[in-house]
Amino acid sequence: MKYIAYCTKGTEPVVKGELLKRIKDAKIFEEADKRIIFGTKARIEDLTKLRCPDDIGILIGEFTASSTQDFSKKILSSDFSSVLVAIHPIRKDLKPKFSITLGGVTGLDLAEYTDKIIPELSQVTGFKFEEKDHSNFDIRIFVDEKKFYVSVRITKLPLYKREYKEFEKEGSLKPSIAACMVYSTTGGESGLKIVDNFCGSGTILCEALATGNSVCGGDVDSESVGFTLKNLENSKLKTLRQRRLPAQTGTMPRGRQANLWLESSNLKVEVKILNATKTSWPNNFFDCAVSNLPYGKQVKVSNITTLYRDALKEYARIVRPSGTICLLGTRPEIIKKYAKEYLKISKIEEFKLGFLGQMPTLQVIRK
Ligand SMILES: C[S@@+](CC[C@H](N)C(=O)[O-])C[C@H]1O[C@@H](n2cnc3c(N)ncnc32)[C@H](O)[C@@H]1O
Repeated sequence: MKYIAYCTKGTEPVVKGELLKRIKDAKIFEEADKRIIFGTKARIEDLTKLRCPDDIGILIGEFTASSTQDFSKKILSSDFSSVLVAIHPIRKDLKPKFSITLGGVTGLDLAEYTDKIIPELSQVTGFKFEEKDHSNFDIRIFVDEKKFYVSVRITKLPLYKREYKEFEKEGSLKPSIAACMVYSTTGGESGLKIVDNFCGSGTILCEALATGNSVCGGDVDSESVGFTLKNLENSKLKTLRQRRLPAQTGTMPRGRQANLWLESSNLKVEVKILNATKTSWPNNFFDCAVSNLPYGKQVKVSNITTLYRDALKEYARIVRPSGTICLLGTRPEIIKKYAKEYLKISKIEEFKLGFLGQMPTLQVIRK
């Protein structure tokens, strides 16, 4: 089966890395802007466990079209019935409704292409068109210049939406980006001690915990610390359900269940109110630090250079020698300057991302 993994711009190499590590027989056919096209015989359930892609669809058409009529002809000849068979194991909830999601980089008016074919699509799928609800049979049409990619989402909600994320403040990270940060730091390994001293609503810590790591951190803002703790609790429960721990834990109160899981897995969670520039974490205690730094208008900071300098100096103290520090922000030059000074490193891996009109840089610094 051929799939398309949709990615946040700039994260494609990380998404590809996770795919190749987690899906043993995955074969990459195309790696391009905001997408990876791959083939695998893996169970569809296994693909839903990937954390770095924004979403995954079964690819049923890849074509260029000379006119709207040509487009109609090509999309209507796509094999929708084999998609239904493929997604059946994980979509028993599917209602006989379909929706259309449009996207990509194009000067074309895509609605002009799709509006006319809704009755025919209804006929070939046997489903009723639903304009706003994209949680059933969602046909995604992604265009790069003039090439159309037609896919159907495998899950009810996009993969980047996480059940744990119940509470969030402005500036909170998209979970798939947080997952990419964790993955590019850990290489997909688990059992590490990870710290985020700018945790906000805790997306990075939730992703690190869900992939089997101990997590510590905090924030100057007490409400953010409260949100992180609640989201982490949700994340632990989700992991607990996935691992199908003994049924009797189901009758216990929420916090107790999660703690039982933590005890059995030997993982540690500690989140507190702190100032990232001066913490009480011990020297060389962590394997990695992963943080989405305050930047832009979302979070006000009086002097960004001083904050980044002092926070980096603190990470240099608490992350062990040969550990890794991964930072997301819009001032990579400040990080580079002080990383050289405090960490004595010369090489930093950098990924320029693109989302919501911003272009922050992800920097992976190996000590
Ligand atoms: C961009 S947000 C982090 C968002 C987080 N990654 C998430 O997904 O929710 C940056 C955070 O840094 C915190 N912050 C700013 N200055 C700080 C400092 N000196 N020490 C600790 N946290 C600080 C802010 O309160 C804010 O929550």
